[in-house]
Amino acid sequence: MGLSQQSSHFAIAIDGPAASGKSTIAKHLARRLGLVMVNSGAMYRAVTWKVLSLGIDPDDRDAIVHALRAMDIQCGTAGNFSTIAIDGRLLDEELRGTEVNLAVSRVAAAPEVRALLVQLQRDYLQHTSLVMEGRDICSIVFPDTPYKIYVDASEDVRAARRSAEGVTDSVAARDRADSNRTTAPLIVADGAIVLDNSDHTVASAVEAALDILRSQGLSHEDSGDT
Ligand code: DC
Repeated sequence: MGLSQQSSHFAIAIDGPAASGKSTIAKHLARRLGLVMVNSGAMYRAVTWKVLSLGIDPDDRDAIVHALRAMDIQCGTAGNFSTIAIDGRLLDEELRGTEVNLAVSRVAAAPEVRALLVQLQRDYLQHTSLVMEGRDICSIVFPDTPYKIYVDASEDVRAARRSAEGVTDSVAARDRADSNRTTAPLIVADGAIVLDNSDHTVASAVEAALDILRSQGLSHEDSGDT
């Protein structure tokens, strides 16, 4: 049984490929619904940043697992957003750098990394209702939640989004790695409804997401704030 059935809190789960717009949609949904937005990708990025800063090869699984055991990973919230600190350092901007972009899929493929972070992700639900976005939130982290959306967008649109943000990110290569890994690959999970975000504005994508959630039974109050 998933935690979503054990607590009075509920989870809205959002998965999708890189730069599909899922973070933006999750952020707006959280604001509209008065929930905490949890960016699970930031957790994989934080471990990757730490691995790189220790000089560990992101393909050296034994070294990653060894380092992971020594890491003090603190997940929290600031306002309506999740935060992550490792060994006392709050991580934010450094998580978006090119080196992390290039290495994160390799570190995230390690089952030991996933097991630890999935537990920390589930722990959030002990404290709050939330919108969590990632790659395996509907399939693995909260499989029992009724509220599941898979946000997709064409490869061209996603690559253009990333370059408009001014960052180097091999979106297609990351998606291939995330979709083909053995543990918790990116899939459209059972019960998830696909939202094609190729042609939406932010406002219309958020409305489409709210429509999906209502069709899945969500009756939580909508503040109407965008
Ligand atoms: O959402 P993002 O692009 O910031 O995620 C960065 C990487 O983290 C992504 O390429 C794969 C990994 N990830 C994952 O494996 N599972 C998640 N739930 C979220 C992210």
